[in-house]
Amino acid sequence: MSLATQIQNLKGPLIAALAFEKREAELAEEMGPEALQFGRLFVAPSASIKQNLVWCQNLWPETLLLPCPSITQGASSLKSLSPRWALYSYENHRRAQLIQEKLKTWALGEIKFLQDFDKKTFGAWTLLEKDWILACTKPLGVAPLGEFQFMENRQFPPTRAYLKLWETFTFHLHPPEKLAQVMDLGSCPGGWTWVLQTLGCQISSVDKAPLDKKIASLPRIQFLKKDAFALKPDEVPPLDWLFSDIICTPERLFELVQSWRASGRVKNFVCTIKFKGKTDFSMIEKFQKIPGSRVIHLLHNKHEATWLCVEKPYWR
Ligand SMILES: C[S@@+](CC[C@H](N)C(=O)[O-])C[C@H]1O[C@@H](n2cnc3c(N)ncnc32)[C@H](O)[C@@H]1O
Repeated sequence: MSLATQIQNLKGPLIAALAFEKREAELAEEMGPEALQFGRLFVAPSASIKQNLVWCQNLWPETLLLPCPSITQGASSLKSLSPRWALYSYENHRRAQLIQEKLKTWALGEIKFLQDFDKKTFGAWTLLEKDWILACTKPLGVAPLGEFQFMENRQFPPTRAYLKLWETFTFHLHPPEKLAQVMDLGSCPGGWTWVLQTLGCQISSVDKAPLDKKIASLPRIQFLKKDAFALKPDEVPPLDWLFSDIICTPERLFELVQSWRASGRVKNFVCTIKFKGKTDFSMIEKFQKIPGSRVIHLLHNKHEATWLCVEKPYWR
C-alpha cells in the first residue's frame, strides 16, 4: 500500500509531530499504535493524541495531503497556501529540494537570550513520496521545524549546560524577577548559577563539587558545599525558584521535589529529569500530574526532560 493511501486510511483530521533527534522511539510511544512514521515525522488522527507530547520538537496540527504530479505543481500548491515554507526532508531529497527552491523560506538564524520574536506566517512540509506532499500551514512555535541556534557565550560559562536555562527562559517561561531568591541544586561547574546571576537573582548554589572560580567570585552567589539531598527546606530562606540539574534517578528527584513542595517554601521549580538507558514514562507521568506542571524536552537536553512547575504569570 502506498504511503499516501496509508495516510488516507487514517480517520478524521490529522496531526503530525516531528521528533527531536534520536528521540523517535519516545515519540512513537507517545503517538500510539495508529501513528505512521516517516523518518522523524509521525502522523496520526488528531483525536488519538490526548497528551502534551514531551518528545515532539515541532507539532503540525491540521496536516494536509496534497498531490504533487510535478515539481512546479507541487511548489504552486504550497505557494497558494502560505508565503513561506520550511522543509523536513526524509526521502526523495533532490526532488524535495527542487520544490523548496521555488518557495520562500524562513529561518530564525542565531538568536539572543530572551529575544522577542515576531511570529511570521510560515508552513512546514515534507515530500512523503515522489508525488505526494504532507503539509501544515500553521505549525506551532516561532522556529521553523522547532530549530534554532543561540548566539552562544563561548568565553564565560564553563560548559554548554547554561543553554538549557537560556532555552527555558527564551521559549517557555518568563525569567525570575531581579533579586528573586533562588536555589541551584547540583550547580557545579556553574552555568545555571551564572545565568541566574546575570538575571539579578540572589542565589544559593549547592553542589558537592566546587564552583568554577570565576563564577564563585560573582556577587549575590552563596555557595554551599553540600549534599543536595541532605539539605532541609527550613535551613534556607523561602525560595521564589528552585532549580535542579543534579545527576540522579528520576525517582530520587521526585522525592526531593515532593519534600520541597510539601514545605510550602518554594514558588516555582525548573528541574532536569535525567534518564539512564530506557526512558521511564511512568516517572514522566508522575511529574506531569503535579499541579501547575509541564514536562518538556529541550533542544539542549540530552537524554533528559525538563520539569517546569510555576505560578501562572511565568508561562510564556
Ligand atoms: C550536570 S552537572 C550540573 C551542571 C550545572 N547545571 C551547570 O550549569 O554547570 C550535575 C551536578 O550534580 C552534582 N551532584 C550530583 N549529586 C549531587 C548531590 N547529591 N548533591 C549535590 N550535587 C550533586 C554533580 O556534582 C554535578 O556537578
